[in-house]
Amino acid sequence: MKRVSISAALLIVSLAGAPFCAASGIVKPGDPWTDDRGQRIQAHGGGITLWHGDYYWFGEDRTPSNEPEKRYVACYSSRDLVHWKFRRQVLVLSDPEHLGPHWVLERPKVYPNPHTHQFVLYAHLDDARYKFARVMIAVSDRIDGDYHYVKSFRPLDQESRDIGQFVDDDGSAYLIFESRPTKGFFIARLTNDYMNVEKTAFIPAPLEGGALVHAGSLYYVVGSHMTGWRPNPNVYATAPSLAGPWTEFRDLAPTEANNYQSQSTMLVKVVGTKKTTVIFMGDIWKPSALWDSRYLWMPLEISGDEMKLPPPHPWQFNAKTGEASIVP
Ligand code: GAL
Repeated sequence: MKRVSISAALLIVSLAGAPFCAASGIVKPGDPWTDDRGQRIQAHGGGITLWHGDYYWFGEDRTPSNEPEKRYVACYSSRDLVHWKFRRQVLVLSDPEHLGPHWVLERPKVYPNPHTHQFVLYAHLDDARYKFARVMIAVSDRIDGDYHYVKSFRPLDQESRDIGQFVDDDGSAYLIFESRPTKGFFIARLTNDYMNVEKTAFIPAPLEGGALVHAGSLYYVVGSHMTGWRPNPNVYATAPSLAGPWTEFRDLAPTEANNYQSQSTMLVKVVGTKKTTVIFMGDIWKPSALWDSRYLWMPLEISGDEMKLPPPHPWQFNAKTGEASIVP
């Protein structure tokens, strides 16, 4: 009798906690995506960091009730990349470089540094007219702790606007940033302390929303054209190494699909027990109500040197096996 009631209690406990223990779930691209509190996920222009078996999603927190003169980065965690638990607003920053009203903090990304055991947050820092064009760094000693502002700088002494994060299979960490005067993407490796970057490659293509992934024997870079918040057909190129040579850029989806109204922010590679899946993480921006911007996440179809973003449709994902399938 006693045994039965204990296992019944365990069942209830495990069911109550199910969303965060489950390895799978359904992603609905473009739909409002809510966290464990039932509140809309605020992680725009975001990045995913895998840490001790959990995924952490960092992004721009555009909650309307945030203080208008501050900028916020929110952090969520998940086992399965589908059900997200709100951790906290890990960065609440007052204009650190006196950039004035409507200053900009965009596209935050967090790198765990294995040498210093610090968590290092990079973001695009700018003034209202996007002339400052720098990256900023903030650090924390816990992945979801309070991040403290360290500095801002121009990586490789270049203007830097949209940034992207890439960690290679050997653990090397890279920043990809858009440099307008030189019309292209710089891929830059983080120095040992992650407080600076060194040049790895330059891809001459006037693109932004840069994202990288290593899948099979190739590196893939994805970017969007420069149309601000308005979507455009995103493109990709491939290379055998980060240093290149990079191919010409090709559309990720049929040109007329306009990337299904989304803009690239990151490519997430999940190496499962049965399959490796690369997820396209994109933002469907709503410039008049940025907090209501949506997320378009879809598993990419990769075959040889071809990469395809399929039309958005609900899909089932098992983060353990890596298997993704469109829900019929
Ligand atoms: C986009 C960029 C966004 C934001 C926006 C502002 O091109 O990707 O992160 O900066 O412009 O207009």
